[in-house]
Amino acid sequence: MTTGYFRNALRCLAIGAAACLAQTAAGEYVPSPEVLESRERFADDRFGIFLHWGIYSMFGQGEWYLNYGPKAEEYVKAAKGFYPARFNAAEWVGAIKDAGAKYICITTRHHDGFSMWHTAENDYNIVDGTPFGRDILKELSEECARQGIALHLYYSHLDWVRDDYPQGRTGHTTGRDASKADWNSYYGFMNRQLKELLTGYGPIRAIWFDGWWDHDEDATPFGWQLPEQYEMIHRLQPSCMVANNHHQSPFPGEDIQIFERDLPGENTAGLSGQEVSRLPLETCNTMNGMWGYKILDQNYKDSRTLIRYLVKAAGMGANLLLNIGPQPDGSLPAAALSRLKEIGNWLHENGETIYATEAGPFPAQSWGTSTRKGNRLFLHVMTPESDAILIPENVKIKKAKEFATGKALKVSKAGSHHVVHLPATGDVDDLIIECETYD
Ligand code: GLC
Repeated sequence: MTTGYFRNALRCLAIGAAACLAQTAAGEYVPSPEVLESRERFADDRFGIFLHWGIYSMFGQGEWYLNYGPKAEEYVKAAKGFYPARFNAAEWVGAIKDAGAKYICITTRHHDGFSMWHTAENDYNIVDGTPFGRDILKELSEECARQGIALHLYYSHLDWVRDDYPQGRTGHTTGRDASKADWNSYYGFMNRQLKELLTGYGPIRAIWFDGWWDHDEDATPFGWQLPEQYEMIHRLQPSCMVANNHHQSPFPGEDIQIFERDLPGENTAGLSGQEVSRLPLETCNTMNGMWGYKILDQNYKDSRTLIRYLVKAAGMGANLLLNIGPQPDGSLPAAALSRLKEIGNWLHENGETIYATEAGPFPAQSWGTSTRKGNRLFLHVMTPESDAILIPENVKIKKAKEFATGKALKVSKAGSHHVVHLPATGDVDDLIIECETYD
């Protein structure tokens, strides 16, 4: 993967910017050197936190609440009562940083159309439309810059409130006037908003789109005009990556391949199963069941499950974007904070085997998975089946040691396979064995 980026970048530099532009005009997306650099940094990060926060949080029923009955004209009144008195960007970013996460992706505008920044496009936003009156995105972006956390912005392509958004598969009961659908008006609105986001909030490392599936090929054929939009993003901030949660193989102009609620190549949630591309990969998933704050959803995965999920993602060369739904008062749920702390403790000890690693040289095995850095191979043994593990044939082990203690471990042979003998340990989240491999 890594070499691919550099090859592209070098090629781009070698053939010169003009030729690159010509190629883009001819339809091929040639990522800029700045974007290639962002991809590298992103792929090294391995762990980010997703934040689903908006006026939907006030209803405590998840971010899709508007889709399930309320009329938009009633729903939007919630904005007038939104006063998240406990919002503190420094505390959010601090807790996320201590968890070992390297970036944040926040919902700037979800399907309910409410803007969490001071947009000039309408008053339905955090500054003009609420008594709170503070631009939380400004505060968050400044805090991210201060604490060295990269910022990605979620932006919904679909809108359940605006009449000019041509109605798709969802949001049919919100009372929009479908006769007023006007794609050009809506597209212009989105692009002006994206421009605000990309010019007023410092470096944005990625725009994370969602909602394309509202008009996918199975529904009405629809021209989303993505190439021009992506080009605008890359022009406004040359290092900004584009990601789109469309549940398809990546489209030209995209820099990240997203998987929702599944590891790359898996499809337990029914949204994935796309071929895994050579782009940097990201799996997003929830800590409990819902993205936005949901009062009835206290079914949080324990930190062992979350740590193992992060390890499994890394073993596939993917980042984990783990979601938190902040509460209506602006604080992060205690259940989420305690998990952040535990993941942070674990990464503090073991981050070297996760950050800036590549996928292991073989697929996940029944005992666990692996990551690597050059000829340092990290075996992540999560469910040992005996006191030794048989290494897939393609990998030859020179020596092995327990990562936590440095204690040397025996390596033997079984036919053409190498066998690594495990140390006696108690119940651990992930027994890590560091091996040196033959090249
Ligand atoms: C889905 C949902 C949305 C959520 C997103 C996160 O597309 O529509 O509510 O924001 O997934 O991955």
